[in-house]
Amino acid sequence: EGSDQPPANKWSFSGPFGKFDRGALQRGLKVYKEVCASCHGLSYIAFRNLAEAGGPGYSVAQATAFASEYKVKDGPNDAGDMFERPGRPADYFPSPFPNEQAARAANGGAAPPDLSLITKARSYKRGFPWFIFDFFTQYQEQGPDYVAAVLQGFEEKVPEGVTIPEGSYYNKYFPGHAIKMPKPLSDGQVTYDDGSPTTVAQYAKDVTTFLMWTAEPHMEARKRLGFQVFVFLIIFAGLMYFTKKKVWAGSH
Ligand code: HEM
Repeated sequence: EGSDQPPANKWSFSGPFGKFDRGALQRGLKVYKEVCASCHGLSYIAFRNLAEAGGPGYSVAQATAFASEYKVKDGPNDAGDMFERPGRPADYFPSPFPNEQAARAANGGAAPPDLSLITKARSYKRGFPWFIFDFFTQYQEQGPDYVAAVLQGFEEKVPEGVTIPEGSYYNKYFPGHAIKMPKPLSDGQVTYDDGSPTTVAQYAKDVTTFLMWTAEPHMEARKRLGFQVFVFLIIFAGLMYFTKKKVWAGSH
C-alpha cells in the first residue's frame, strides 16, 4: 500500500481563466499517437474534435488529413464483409485491442485503461488536513498531476522493503508501486518540430495537457461563461441594491 504524493505542476489550464496551451496540446497528441496509442484507446475523441474551438487549434483540412493516416474498421458492406478504410473526420480514434480480454492478455493481466477521461478518473489523496480543501482548491489539478507523475515515476532501483512481482514495474506514484505498464517514455523518443525539449518531463506534461483536453474539451467555453455569469451577477446585485433603495424609500 501507499505511494508518494505527486508533485504539483504549473498547468496553463488551472484557475478560473485557465486556457490550454495549444503547443502542448499538439505535442501531446503526437506523444499519444506515437507512444500511448499502441496500448491505450481514446475512444471518446473523434478526429473532427481536433479542429474544434478550445482544442489543439487544427483546421478542418488538417484534422481530415490526420484522420486519413488511420485505418478504421467499417462494414458490413453489401457482400456482408467487414473492411478497413482510411479514417474520416467523423471517426473516433481506433482502439488498439478488439476487447478487454485481448487487452489483458497482451499486458500481463492488466488492461490499459482508455485515456479519454483518465485525468478526471485518477486522483490522489493528500494527507490530513489538506484533503478537506481539495474539493475547492487542488481538485482540478490532482488528476493531471497524478498522470504526469506516473509517467515520470518509473525507477530502476526498487527501494528496500518493496517487492515487485514478475511482469510488474516499480513506479513511485502508482498506488502500491507495482504497475503493469512498462516505462513508456524515454528522452528523445518523440521528435518535436517547435524546439521544445524532447525529455521525459516535457513529454509527460504535454501528453497530460492533451489528456486534460480530451477529458474536458469545452473547458475554455465553460470558464468563459462562468466569468460572464459572475460579471452579470455583480451588475445585477448593484441594480437590485438601488431598486431596493428606491422601492423602500421613506417607508420607515
Ligand atoms: C496504465 C498512461 C503508454 C500499458 C496507465 C495509466 C495511465 C497510463 C494514466 C493508469 C494508471 C493508474 O491506473 O493509476 C499512459 C500514457 C502513455 C502510456 C500517457 C503514453 C505516454 C503505455 C504503453 C503501454 C501501456 C505503451 C503498453 C506497452 C498500460 C497498462 C496499464 C496502464 C497495462 C495498466 C497498469 C496496471 O493497472 O497495473 N497508463 N500509458 N501504457 N498502461 Fe499506460
